[in-house]
Amino acid sequence: MGRVSRHDRIAAGLIAWGSGSLRDLPWRRTNNAWHVLVSEVMLQQTSVARVLPKYENFIEEFPTPGHLARASLGDALSLWSGLGYPRRCRNLREAAIVIERDYAGDMPSTLEELLALPGIGQYTARAVLAFAHRQDVAVVDVNVSRVLSRLQGGPLKARALQDLADQLVPEGLGWEWNQVMMDFGARHCTIRHPQCAACPVSKQCKWHGVGEDPAPTSAGASKPQAKFEGSDRQARGRAMRAVGNGITAQKDITESMGLAEDAMRAQKLLHALVDEGLLLRAGKRFTLP
Ligand code: ADE
Repeated sequence: MGRVSRHDRIAAGLIAWGSGSLRDLPWRRTNNAWHVLVSEVMLQQTSVARVLPKYENFIEEFPTPGHLARASLGDALSLWSGLGYPRRCRNLREAAIVIERDYAGDMPSTLEELLALPGIGQYTARAVLAFAHRQDVAVVDVNVSRVLSRLQGGPLKARALQDLADQLVPEGLGWEWNQVMMDFGARHCTIRHPQCAACPVSKQCKWHGVGEDPAPTSAGASKPQAKFEGSDRQARGRAMRAVGNGITAQKDITESMGLAEDAMRAQKLLHALVDEGLLLRAGKRFTLP
């Protein structure tokens, strides 16, 4: 170890990589904490390409937490349609209602306050702090987990992962660092084709593509997605879309779900959506809430 630490070299190498390579994305052009929150909630389980048009629409319709707090959940869900996991939209609206009621519509700016909002966990709270409030906190998602466990050459438990991530954030560069880490994981240090030969931190990396990959057994690793075709998630999405398009009769929704041959399964899924507050039921009719 010389005077320049390994951590400094990693930070410098990755920041340099990012200075020429960061994608230009709308949520990277704003400091508006509400807009950042909306983008991060959308990006949690949905790809950048699918989020882009939905984000623009959603922000236009609900430019402040107050706009979403005053809207019906049904109107919010209509704009969410196509992103999947509609519980995220319900939670986001519940968070907006709390922000409006307890913070006079101003986004909270501490980790504790953000974590207390409905549906907001460590990842989202830290993303708001780093990307909107420009604080030097580390945001750890699946990409960051992969990059860091590979650099360390072994799987990391949750605590060690967050600690290492926190130690690496270069002072005053929290915004850049976290954006770079996400892009580096998404585009360079990828799951299946890491570009180790052209890696800016290969000298600091204890894995460099040889031997067992420590990423899949680390905390925060991505789990293989269950098959979508034929899944409950697919049928639920179809049900939400049908109801959003004004189809209200259970029999017609069941058909839209592709479950005409399995009406019992359709009914179970519809009732689950009602229990989750995502649909309203009146007898054999369903509407958006
Ligand atoms: N995924 C999650 N957050 C992101 C961001 N800020 N930019 C790009 N992809 C992301």
